[in-house]
Formats: sequence, structure tokens, C-alpha cells
Amino acid sequence: MSLRTSSASSRLCFWPGSRDRPNVLGRCRLISTFIATIGACVLFYVFAVPQLERFRFRSELSWYDLGIYGFGPSQSYISFDEESPIVEISPAGAKCDPRYTFLAPRGDSVAHPGPMILDARGELVWMNYNWGTTQDCKVQRYKGQDYVTFWQGDEEDGHGRGSWYMLDSTYTTKYIVSPIGAMDGDLHDFHITANDTALITIYDPIPADLTSVGGPELGWLYEGVFQEIDISTGELLFEWRSTQFFPPNSSYEPLNDRGYERTMGYDYFHMNSVDKDDQGRYLVSGRHTHSVTCIDGFTGGVLWTLGGKDNEFSDESNGVVTGFEWQHDARWRGPNRITLFNNAANGDYDLQKISYGALIELDIPARQATLVTSYDHPQELMATSQGNLQVLDTGNVLVGWGHSAAYTEFSQEGDVLCDVHYGASAYFSFGRIVSYRVTKGSWVGTPDTLPDAAVAGDSVFVSWNGATEVESWRLEAWDGAGLENMTFIAVDQVDRIGFETEIPLPPEITSFFRVHAINVDGDIIGATEILKRDTSSSRGNFLTVHWGVIVIAIFASVCVVCGLYCAVNRQLRRRESDGNGPYRLVTHKEEDENDVEIDRLPI
Ligand SMILES: *[C@@H]1O[C@H](CO)[C@@H](O)[C@H](O)[C@H]1NC(C)=O
Ligand SMILES: *[C@@H]1O[C@H](CO)[C@@H](O)[C@H](O)[C@H]1NC(C)=O
Ligand SMILES: *[C@@H]1O[C@H](CO)[C@@H](O)[C@H](O)[C@H]1NC(C)=O
Repeated sequence: MSLRTSSASSRLCFWPGSRDRPNVLGRCRLISTFIATIGACVLFYVFAVPQLERFRFRSELSWYDLGIYGFGPSQSYISFDEESPIVEISPAGAKCDPRYTFLAPRGDSVAHPGPMILDARGELVWMNYNWGTTQDCKVQRYKGQDYVTFWQGDEEDGHGRGSWYMLDSTYTTKYIVSPIGAMDGDLHDFHITANDTALITIYDPIPADLTSVGGPELGWLYEGVFQEIDISTGELLFEWRSTQFFPPNSSYEPLNDRGYERTMGYDYFHMNSVDKDDQGRYLVSGRHTHSVTCIDGFTGGVLWTLGGKDNEFSDESNGVVTGFEWQHDARWRGPNRITLFNNAANGDYDLQKISYGALIELDIPARQATLVTSYDHPQELMATSQGNLQVLDTGNVLVGWGHSAAYTEFSQEGDVLCDVHYGASAYFSFGRIVSYRVTKGSWVGTPDTLPDAAVAGDSVFVSWNGATEVESWRLEAWDGAGLENMTFIAVDQVDRIGFETEIPLPPEITSFFRVHAINVDGDIIGATEILKRDTSSSRGNFLTVHWGVIVIAIFASVCVVCGLYCAVNRQLRRRESDGNGPYRLVTHKEEDENDVEIDRLPI
């Protein structure tokens, strides 16, 4: 066999002047190895190195951050079908704000994307598995009532085509807000003002001359638009369009192959937040122009611009407050103060950049900008997209790191109080689990569903998606008096622990029972359906599952062994028949020397 191979390769690698056959062979192997090594190096450099560069290994990474529980560790429940993230909170004994966290995790490592509320320990409170994309889940006040609001729709080309939803305390959709005019609502902002109006962002494709950025004269641009809408009447109160003030070449976004089609317009402005202060001045963030612009609420004229090519401010802090790039979430924090989240990075281009939150003081008449505080992550996180900064009423600051699955609470002075990861930080730049924004707020949820319960073995597992007021669960056994109007007797009461509570079933429960949800005053606020203890097959479920796995494993192993045996057997037979034809009479002697015979055969 080896001879045949070598003769073939020597033919392939033959060159004149070489008489020494083994030498040729050796050289040939050397060349092949050399080419293969170069090939492997090129492949490694082209495909592996860019991926490796994206890792952010730090010496202080925990096992969680190194990913031993997965890119986005998640938890499943027995009484509830969806999975929710498992978070890691640091430092030990962290002083997190006790209120609820609102986010909308999504990405390849998220089993069930959608709007979500977690408690301060990272335990699930509410989630809704939405088939469309959900962004920007937060609590907002409208006419004195709190609503969970989020955007839902299709995400395409870096912006959204959808509407904003407002859910009341029972998680019933009370309002669906859409732009006025034939335009789709974009995912980036939905901000309810103190006057109960909504500020919304829109990406409107319009024909435009793109020659100033090297594009077509008759091209397409995504114009940055915001509207202020009266939620109750649907009346359009104000509209502002970016192209009246910002030409295409005010952008830092490369044109690439965009701008030739309506569905692939040049996203030159990328409006990602809009705010309004009590003087009626709007504040708009244009991510791709690296600028924050103040707009007169009466005339729509630009009052001033901070950052980007149209920057009017001198930077009193060494370029930190005017040199922000690809920023998000610009908000008023008083008449002369704003905050923003400076991504500093965009996509995978700027892998060494570090993102941070910034509180900026503006001397508007003098056009001077000064950094008051920056909010820096101890692991120097970089958010290649998304992110936000919320100032809590305690004065503390919450930063959501967007594309990096983390949110951090800082003191007013910028010290880290509580850092929460909902994905492994070594892999953050892969974006396997992200949330556009993360905010905190107070919330009372009283769902109009029944609590969920499932009996497993000798326990019942109870949960109630969205219920914030359950203090304890009361177990009630049927008294056996009659099936028509069943009566129940309380047999146990246990504190609610996290999202799902396991209650061991005491011996008093022999068949039917139910579980009541009890609030802090001891009132019943919910009841499960009637459940039944299945005495015949206690722990049966678990055993079945395990046995099922074992049976499958044994079956698969037997298959593998059989398959290997058949393959080897056939190979041996083929070897025999190759040499001597399919049918052959053998003497005892010949059979004994079979192996030797075959080796001697000419090839
Ligand atoms: C943008 O283009 C216009 C002409 O089309 C030019 O006058 C202006 O200087 C350019 N601005 C920048 C920032 O390049
Ligand atoms: C609310 O309305 C008052 C009165 O019209 C106005 O002065 C104020 O600027 C408005 N505030 C916002 C945030 O729209
Ligand atoms: C069950 O309750 C219904 C209505 O409350 C009543 O009409 C009926 O008589 C009761 N049946 C028994 C067996 O108590």
C-alpha cells in the first residue's frame, strides 16, 4: 500500500534532475508540510485572531465571567415554561438599589427574549416571551399611573419598524403608540414627559443628494425625526427633522454600499434619544454625528450642538466631554447639565476603546463644557452598541452597558456600589446576550392570571409571573367532605422565595389541594387551580426522565458497538476477498498463513 502511494506522489512531485527517489519524497513532504502550515497560519490569522481579539480577559474575572455556566446562564422553572437569566452580583455584599430592574434581554444565548423585570437580587419577577423584537423596557408614569413601556416590532438595518406598548399593573396593554403620519415607529426612544406627552424617534427614508459623502446624487437617506404626541388624543404637537440642520457630511458613519435603495438608506444621523426639559428645550442625540443638540421647542431651531463636526463648545476636560463617539441616551439633568453614555466604540472596529457614562456641566453663554463625573466600569467594559444612563432619585447612577450584558450602580461620585452581570463578560463583544437599555424603578404588578403551580414528586412548585405583592403561599388541603362544593383547610404557609417557591407536601395532603397567594396584610390575593397529589407515582416523574436517558444511552452505545463491529468485520472480509476473489477454498494451512499471504501479494 505504501509503495503505491509513494509512486503516485513521486509522479506528482517529480522534477527534472532528481534521481534520488527517497530524497524527492522527503522534499515533497517538506513542501506539503510547509504549504499546509502557511495555510493553517493564514486561516488562523483571518478567522481566529479577530475572534480572539474580541475576548476581554481580565485577571479578576470570576468563573461566571469566564463562562463556565455558559455565555448567558439561564434558569428554568417547574411551574413556568420560560427561562430567565442567572445573574452574578458583585462585590460581595453589594448595596444595590432595592427596586426592580427593567430590561429586555435578547441574543443567541437568550432562550426567551422579551420584556423582563428582575428584583434587586436578580430574581425573575415578570417576563413576557415575545415573538417580535422587544427593546427599551422601562417603567414610566402617565397621568399618575405607572406603566411598563417597551417597543416591539421588527428590527432591520439598525433601526426598528414597530410601535410602543404601555402595560398597566395587570400587564394588560392599555395604549399602543405609533407615529403620526405614514411612518414606522423606531425602537430607540419612547419618553413620556412630565406633561403626559410622548417623545418618539422615527427613521424616515427620504431622497437625498449624497455627493458630499461620495454617494449618488439621487440617493436615499434615513432622516432622523422625532415627534411629540399627545397620548390621549393622538394629536401631533411637534415634529423635528434632522436634514434641515445637519447635512449628510456631518456624519462619521461610512457610506459603504448604502444610499442607493430606499430599504438601504444612508443612516447618517441615527437618532437614539430625545428628551425635553421644563423650559421646553428638546435634547437630541445623533449617534452617527457624535453630537448632542439642543432644539428650541417653539421654533425647532438649533440652539447649540455639543460634539461632532458642528461642536460649538470648548472642552474644559481634555476632550472627554466634546470628543464622545457613538454615544447614547443624552438627558437633561438640570438647566445646564446633561448626562450621556459614551460608547466610544462602534461595531467591531474599535476593540481597545472603553465606554463610560458622563455627567457634563455646560456654560451655555460661554460655550464651555466640563466633565462633572465619569462613571467607569471596573472591568473597563466596552459597549460596541446600545447602552444608557439613569440618574435615580437617590442621586445614584445606573449605567446599562447595552451590548455588554451588565448594569452597574454608581454613587453620585462615581464609585461602584453594585455590578450585575447577566452574561459572561469574557465574551461580551460577541453580543450573545444584550439589552438595549437597563433601568430601575418602583413597580406594583397584580397580574390578572392565576398563579402557576406544578406538582413534582412530594412537592408543589408555585410561581406567579408578574406578581410583586405575594409575601407567602398558603397550602390548603381538601377536607374530603364532597366534590360538589369543595372546602379546604389550611395546612401550611411558607414564605415566597424568589420567583418560584417549592413547598413540600405534608402527609395531610392525600389528594386535592390548592395554594393561596397571601400579601403582606395576610389577605388572599390569588389562588391556584385545584391540584392533586399523585400518591401512586411519587417521584415517578423524575425516575421516568432519568430512566429514559439511561435507556437511550444504553441503546445508543449498543448501536455504536454493533456498528463498529460490523464495519471492522466487513473491512477484514474485504481484505480477504480483495486478495483472492469473492469465493475461495482454503486449506487449514493456508488459513493459518493468511496474513502473511496477503502481505506478500503484489500491489
Ligand atoms: C459638507 O459639504 C458642504 C458642501 O456640500 C461643505 O460646504 C461643507 O464644508 C461640508 N462639511 C463638512 C463638515 O465636511
Ligand atoms: C409642560 O407644559 C408647560 C405649560 O405649557 C410648559 O411650560 C412646559 O415646558 C411643558 N413641559 C414639558 C416637559 O413639555
Ligand atoms: C353548592 O353550592 C351551590 C351554590 O352555591 C348550591 O346551590 C348547592 O346547593 C351547593 N351544594 C351542596 C351539596 O352543598
